[in-house]
Amino acid sequence: MINRYESGSLVNTLYCSKCLKTYNLNEIQTFATCCDKPLVFSYHLEKKTSKTIINNDIKSIWRYASFLPILSIKNIISLGEGLTPTSKIEILGKFINHEHLYLKDESGNPTGSFKARGLSVAVSKLKELGIQKCIIPTAGNAGGALAAYCAKANIEATIIIPRHTPKVFKDECAIYGAHLILVDGLINDCGTKAKALNKNGDYFDMSTLKEPYRLEGKKIMGYEIAEYFNWDLPDFIFYPAGGGTGLIGIWKAFQEMIALGWIKNKLPKMIAVQSSNCAPIKEAYKDSINWKEKFNPEPSIANGLAVPYPFGMDLMLNVIKESHGEVCTIEEEKIKETVHFFSQKEGILISPEGAATFMALSHLKNKGTVGKEDRVLLLNTGSGYKYIENVV
Ligand SMILES: Cc1ncc(COP(=O)(O)O)c(C=O)c1O
Ligand SMILES: [Zn+2]
Repeated sequence: MINRYESGSLVNTLYCSKCLKTYNLNEIQTFATCCDKPLVFSYHLEKKTSKTIINNDIKSIWRYASFLPILSIKNIISLGEGLTPTSKIEILGKFINHEHLYLKDESGNPTGSFKARGLSVAVSKLKELGIQKCIIPTAGNAGGALAAYCAKANIEATIIIPRHTPKVFKDECAIYGAHLILVDGLINDCGTKAKALNKNGDYFDMSTLKEPYRLEGKKIMGYEIAEYFNWDLPDFIFYPAGGGTGLIGIWKAFQEMIALGWIKNKLPKMIAVQSSNCAPIKEAYKDSINWKEKFNPEPSIANGLAVPYPFGMDLMLNVIKESHGEVCTIEEEKIKETVHFFSQKEGILISPEGAATFMALSHLKNKGTVGKEDRVLLLNTGSGYKYIENVV
């Protein structure tokens, strides 16, 4: 029998993404220790489920509470995340001779990025599980979002961030009352520091995909995309991938909507966009066994893309393969130029991560991968305002 929780959640199991072993979803969980892989939630999904299950009275990701793992409404910590606009990009579309070009703009989320979606769900779950302290290694945006949601939940947050990250990313964490630790290096070095600080298990570790809750919040982007396109998904989605929660989450939403009978089996090709300074997906795509040997990651002005060793690599590679997508890397100089170009043409101060998706489309059009009539969606995952000191 379906166990429907007070929140309306249809959550069913929590399982290892590799061997499918199940874990108790009513206890604190991190990752699947059986295979050292991310844990993933499943839901009771039945064909022909009515879309009235979407609660349109709620103006945030929580209108999809049925497909989120929070069991009681009283634990929800929301700042109005999600329901971001999608619009046609006409001026730049004309410029590159592409009529069906759309942008989902995540910059209006609380703390200025899509990270708010994942952290709303994760911090709500911490509250539900009675956790008081958490720690996060971050490339920037996730730290600010965690700080804000923890402030509202009255949970202690420790944020470990590369020293070279633009000042505003660090300052916002401090203003929200989080503890801030600066590290010389990239997010993986921050991860090492977090592990050392947490050797006694005092904190809940919020590292990307080392816990299963953030993915669920991010996946709601997939539901919103389907809604915007009237349940007939675009041909391509260009996504700036770092740790991979967005890419994996959007794809997870599509699988769930197939199970619900809401969309057809023709899914978009998923294009993972990275900076040439740090493109582990590209390396792993070429050689999934030995890629780390020759890999030399460097910082990027698109901070969110400087994630050298993503824990969810296998899941990202699966999404790209299953969707017949590909990886596309963009040079740093091109990303910077595109931030200016995009902003000047469209009046949207795009993040470097979002700008990279536009360049990637231009490349794949030149290569012939994307056809003139294809419907293409770009994701602007964050606000460009936070990066200004690096892009002027
Ligand atoms: C603006 C922005 N875009 C993209 C990413 C990559 O996110 P994901 O973990 O979903 O790959 C990040 C991560 O920090 C980010 O801040
Ligand atoms: Zn396993």
